[in-house]
Amino acid sequence: MELIRLDNITKTYHMGEIDVPVLKGVSLSIAKGELASLTGASGSGKSTLMNILGCLDRPTSGQYWLDGQNVAGMSSDQRALVRNRSIGFVFQNFNLLPRTSALHQVIMPLAYTAAELSDRQARQRAQALLERVGLGDRMDHEPSQLSGGQQQRVAIARALINKPPLLLADEPTGNLDSHTSQEVLEMFHQLNEQEGITVLLVTHDPTVAASARRTIHISDGLIAAPRDGQDQFRLAGAGSAEVPTR
Ligand SMILES: Nc1ncnc2c1ncn2[C@@H]1O[C@H](COP(=O)(O)OP(=O)(O)OP(=O)(O)O)[C@@H](O)[C@H]1O
Ligand SMILES: [Mg+2]
Repeated sequence: MELIRLDNITKTYHMGEIDVPVLKGVSLSIAKGELASLTGASGSGKSTLMNILGCLDRPTSGQYWLDGQNVAGMSSDQRALVRNRSIGFVFQNFNLLPRTSALHQVIMPLAYTAAELSDRQARQRAQALLERVGLGDRMDHEPSQLSGGQQQRVAIARALINKPPLLLADEPTGNLDSHTSQEVLEMFHQLNEQEGITVLLVTHDPTVAASARRTIHISDGLIAAPRDGQDQFRLAGAGSAEVPTR
């Protein structure tokens, strides 16, 4: 079953008189339950593509179906609804609110989506998620009182509060040391394997990319074509094509 289908997506930014074409016809399908990494040089359009997938931005042209819904045809209000209900985001710099406890960071997105939950139910759901990411004893801590890896785990719990089928992470380990990166990466794998959440990870880190079953490589505004046969595996280390790496 397909969760994401992109058909010939283009994105051109306009800077005054100048057009900046970034995505030049991206077609891509991601199945429910996949964990894939997205790699490519700096400036190749990874974040641009993630913003479109996350319904934060619209493509210039092309079609985007998310769970069978045609997102490209939606109004911005409809897209906001899809974004809040179906997509969790994790960013490189955690994007937590200062001077706010871990528990409140995680509860907050429910305000837009789950009016039917009582305060007590909302709190219980957030507590369960913080326990799930190993922060049961840090619920009252503010970001300045948490390590980088702990802050990223708060961000992951927050991304999951609306039970989204899709988790998009843009360089989630970019600000973490290698040991902490490994722990956060392990968290994504667990969520994928145990909860069936579809995960797409943007990364520069070859170890993170190689941990995904599938690596999608973007180059010159296009997804590099998968290669056939042995080359797939030989080229996997070079990250030069869309190849299974595990
Ligand atoms: N709002 C914008 N207006 C104009 N140009 C933009 C805008 N956002 C991004 N770009 C340009 O689009 C290109 C792709 O940017 P993007 O942020 O998607 O790259 P990236 O692959 O995520 O890079 P990095 O690995 O450094 O995060 C860049 O050349 C950038 O300058
Ligand atoms: Mg980026």
